[in-house]
Amino acid sequence: MSDDLTSIIRRRRMTRSFAGGPSTEELVDLCDVARRAPSAGFAQGSHFLVLDGADKDRFFETSGAGEWFAQRAPGVRDCSQVVLVLADPDAYTSRYAEADKVELGLVQRESWSCPFWLTDAAMAAQNLLLLLEERRWGALLFGLYGPRQTSLDPFGIPPTIECVGVIAVGSRSPDDQPTGSATRRARRPAAEVIHRGSW
Ligand SMILES: Cc1cc2nc3c(=O)[nH]c(=O)nc-3n(C[C@H](O)[C@H](O)[C@H](O)COP(=O)(O)O)c2cc1C
Repeated sequence: MSDDLTSIIRRRRMTRSFAGGPSTEELVDLCDVARRAPSAGFAQGSHFLVLDGADKDRFFETSGAGEWFAQRAPGVRDCSQVVLVLADPDAYTSRYAEADKVELGLVQRESWSCPFWLTDAAMAAQNLLLLLEERRWGALLFGLYGPRQTSLDPFGIPPTIECVGVIAVGSRSPDDQPTGSATRRARRPAAEVIHRGSW
């Protein structure tokens, strides 16, 4: 299978059963590439928190994600690391208070109809998913639904920081099969979602 970008985007899918994985050093190097995503005002408020070993286990326990996956996709717990994708709104409100941006009126967090800190962090997350796929590692992006007191605070994440998603990383287990919503719903036809001229 080709490794050009189009092929990587087409073949990427979520992995829900892992066995082993990259070294944490390799993963941190990939995060360093992934952070070269577009960034509004070059505010660069996207962060990655990489957890492995006992920290990864503690994350699954305290966040409730371990219990959730134990019932639905137990192979997720065998990932080698989890990466929390984090966004710092203050980096954007302070950047947009600078002289070249202040006229946009985005100094208050509530003024943002599209919070660019979430946009930027999501793009960095997709970069990481594609870099992992390029190297044939598996990954699952999932959300957190519990209170931050059990999922973010235990890892020293400041209270103003938002979590955009969590990426479980590892080697795709040989018995991993496509599961999840994408196996129960058809991909929408291009003509339904790509609009030309008007909606
Ligand atoms: C914001 C977001 C949250 C997601 N949360 C979960 C989740 O909690 N559990 C899960 O198994 N998959 C989760 N997914 C994965 C989606 O189900 C998956 O991306 C979608 O079905 C398309 O499948 P594919 O990525 O394999 O192509 C999430 C994806 C996104 C973008």
